[in-house]
Amino acid sequence: MARKLFIKTYGCQMNVYDSARMADVLAPIGFERTDTAQDADLVVLNTCHIRERAAEKVYSEIGRLRLMREARREAGEGDMLIAVAGCVAQAEGDEVRRRAPSVDIVVGPQAYHRLGGMVRRILADRGERIVDTDFPTETKFDSLPEQSAPQGAAAFLTIQEGCDKFCTFCVVPYTRGAEYSRPVGDIRNEAIKLVGQGTQEITLLGQNVNAYHGVGEDGETWTLAQLIRELAKIDGLERIRFTTSHPRDMDDDLIAAHGDTPKLMPYLHLPVQSGSDRILKRMNRGHGREAYFRIVEHLRAVRPDLALSSDFIVGFPGETDQDFEDTLDLIRQVNFAQAYSFKYSERPGTPAAEHQDQVPEAMKSERLQRLQALLNEQQLAFNEAMADRVVPVLFDRRGKKPGQLVGRSPWLQATHIDLDPVRADALFGAVSDVRVARGAPNGLVGSLADPKQESAA
Ligand code: 5AD
Ligand code: SF4
Repeated sequence: MARKLFIKTYGCQMNVYDSARMADVLAPIGFERTDTAQDADLVVLNTCHIRERAAEKVYSEIGRLRLMREARREAGEGDMLIAVAGCVAQAEGDEVRRRAPSVDIVVGPQAYHRLGGMVRRILADRGERIVDTDFPTETKFDSLPEQSAPQGAAAFLTIQEGCDKFCTFCVVPYTRGAEYSRPVGDIRNEAIKLVGQGTQEITLLGQNVNAYHGVGEDGETWTLAQLIRELAKIDGLERIRFTTSHPRDMDDDLIAAHGDTPKLMPYLHLPVQSGSDRILKRMNRGHGREAYFRIVEHLRAVRPDLALSSDFIVGFPGETDQDFEDTLDLIRQVNFAQAYSFKYSERPGTPAAEHQDQVPEAMKSERLQRLQALLNEQQLAFNEAMADRVVPVLFDRRGKKPGQLVGRSPWLQATHIDLDPVRADALFGAVSDVRVARGAPNGLVGSLADPKQESAA
């Protein structure tokens, strides 16, 4: 009988991708994914360390799992192994083992290819506990099994990991290590395989994806722009995206690719974090506000309909009212289609956590509210401006009601339509033109644009 595997994923898309790869690693030793922890023989918590109290949440989740495990044992339903993976595992390795004795395995993101062996060892010797947070010299990508489970119409493909930028607020350079780029040939093969499984849109993932510098089959170092143009040659691959980018690595060729590569979607997530030069310097971002404006200007010159998204941190140590106003001003000048925003939170071990001039919590909350009100206004205006337009939508998800489909517009807007269920089945997984009825705060609502299809529906 197959053993059951439950993976709970926190945080970013990279973790979602990693969770799928861990499932691939565990499949050959008999593990199948399940949707609940209760009936799992192995639970993996794939954690994120970026947010405040992330580790605390993991420890309370472990507490719940421990009780569940005891209940399983008492009911004679078997054992439950508990593994902690992801960035909390990497950052707190031994600490996790000390604070949570019920955890069997602590595995850092660079060691996932060894997870199968670890689980086997523990199944053979139930007393053992393993912590593996090494950055091995062999790369995980060379040793991971090929991706097996199809991802659907819209898929993710990790091409780069790690970060050498050391923004002073961020743990990623410590948890994910130095920048590493996968070779072009491996990425192309994985993309072709995904397309063979029905994928039409691929989002290339990396903590610093536009710092990509992988080896091509010609032995040269390739840039992200070169890689994108190469992948665009794959028949059946209709859409390409990439995330997350750093302004410092937005080179001219990558900007040009937005104008000359139609498969590259007109949407870019380009975190700026702050609009104040003083704060950007303190953050060690390596660019100022003018540099960001120039990039946006060049991008819009080659792709006028480009939608921009960003990340913002409010209340970074030493942020004054004027610094914050500068951020609001940047937002007004750029006009974002979408954004994520956070209150600064101290990450132990990062330089910014050492600053004495931390911003009071109440002030952070107040600034975040004002910032989000402005961003929400821009997002709604962007979506509302789509009303009455016909846009190509890739339907990659089903809605709650039968016949409901949810897809992505080129600008990554979630787009809802209602169809009769047979028609919905026929369109699921493909691109169709949608006439937008209205824009809502979080996306678009519309109906099929093709009159023939509408009458058939
Ligand atoms: N505090 C608040 N936000 C943070 N981020 C990263 N580290 C911190 C921190 N210490 C945000 C940044 C980054 C996003 C993924 O998370 O905006 O771009
Ligand atoms: Fe963190 Fe900065 Fe690297 Fe992004 S670029 S992962 S924010 S250190």
